[in-house]
Amino acid sequence: MEQQRIGNATIMNVDCMEFMSTLPDKHFDLAVCDPPYFDGPQKPGYYAGSKQKTDVGSYKDISSSWTVPGKEYFEELVRISRNQIIWGINYYEFLAPGGRLIWIKGEQGSPFSMAEIAYQSFYLRVDIFKHLWAGFWQEPGHHKEKRIHPTQKPVPLYEWILVNYAKLGQKIFDSHMGSGSSAIAANNLGFEFFGCELDKDYYEVACKRVIEYSRQERLFA
Ligand SMILES: C[S@@+](CC[C@H](N)C(=O)[O-])C[C@H]1O[C@@H](n2cnc3c(N)ncnc32)[C@H](O)[C@@H]1O
Repeated sequence: MEQQRIGNATIMNVDCMEFMSTLPDKHFDLAVCDPPYFDGPQKPGYYAGSKQKTDVGSYKDISSSWTVPGKEYFEELVRISRNQIIWGINYYEFLAPGGRLIWIKGEQGSPFSMAEIAYQSFYLRVDIFKHLWAGFWQEPGHHKEKRIHPTQKPVPLYEWILVNYAKLGQKIFDSHMGSGSSAIAANNLGFEFFGCELDKDYYEVACKRVIEYSRQERLFA
């Protein structure tokens, strides 16, 4: 397994199931995860397995094949973490007591999904975060983020999650790291972080991106 330590973040090129099988129960305080919600390879410009166009190109032609996680994944995630936030929960058969976190990302009339839904294990209530992230439009007044991954989520979303659901000193885990946005947010806020990414190319571009952000942070400091 290849891995890099960048700031407080350990980023691993590994199948998350393999990594989680090595961990004791409740090893992480919070798992913030965004698993694939479709099976198959990612075609350029499209969500794999569907005819729906993405609003962002992939930097590579075709990705490794993705698999929607089954029951074993959710059982393992709940075993190794005290709390979980799981994006795309409307796509999975995962029924556990908990609330929801809704990220409003588009304006009315947008051709793309206006919101994404996550399961959160903390309370039964529904929390909402609004941050524009559709097509070329990103939140006004916000430093524009380069998009390197077809399902990349913005860094401020993960920062908001960490500020609102985690306490400094806690250990954070992302089983499906993609572009590294979760790792960047953890580094920005000083959280100890571990992330898995199965696709070697995404792993490499994510590492580069996390390194670039950590250099910028040091410059600002
Ligand atoms: C929905 S994307 C995550 C996007 C991420 N939230 C972001 O902001 O960029 C899912 C990612 O999980 C990776 N992946 C798929 N199966 C995996 C597995 N078994 N273990 C680790 N990573 C996996 C895919 O290569 C893909 O990059």
